[in-house]
Amino acid sequence: MKNIVVLVSGSGTNLQRIIDTIEAGEIENAKVSLVVADRKCYGLERAKNHAIDHILVPRGKNFSSELAKVIPADTDLIVLAGFLSILKPEFCENWNGKIINIHPALLPKFGGKGMWGMNVHNAVIEAGEKESGATVHFVTSGIDEGEAILQKSFEVTAEDTPETLAQKVHQVEYEIFPLAINKVLQNK
Ligand code: GAR
Repeated sequence: MKNIVVLVSGSGTNLQRIIDTIEAGEIENAKVSLVVADRKCYGLERAKNHAIDHILVPRGKNFSSELAKVIPADTDLIVLAGFLSILKPEFCENWNGKIINIHPALLPKFGGKGMWGMNVHNAVIEAGEKESGATVHFVTSGIDEGEAILQKSFEVTAEDTPETLAQKVHQVEYEIFPLAINKVLQNK
């Protein structure tokens, strides 16, 4: 049984999707062993509702070293699902190849510092992009720079707003996140 630790900062709908797909057997031979939040957020409630171990490690200067202390050594995969703190290079190197993140745009476009959540969708609309989407990628010390695992795009129409993009991106995320997790866990 593979152990997945999920890191969240917000509402945690992607965490919910991971829990649901595991329960439905779509992610095989795996369990969410721990949910870590860097602030009080609904993601922690979702863990509680499913009797999954959960812990709040407050964000701040020593976050990465505090986080390192709570991640069990037998963790197979660390999944960043709407997680907003930047992880220190040392942490990323220690878990090299075992941390993945979902990003609400088509990396390498619209990534890097400050590019999270609605900031991304505002930037995509402002730039007049013809398409957007989501990317699951490995986490390295460069922000949003690790190798892509899966990416899916959709067309941005003249009617789209940052809010409609956020909804469309979430739908794409729910589709590709479980597939990407399976892919990494099975070394495909
Ligand atoms: C998701 O769209 C995710 O891609 C984004 O935050 C949202 C979290 O939604 N992550 C980032 O912007 C990280 N740079 P959720 O809490 O409902 O899963």
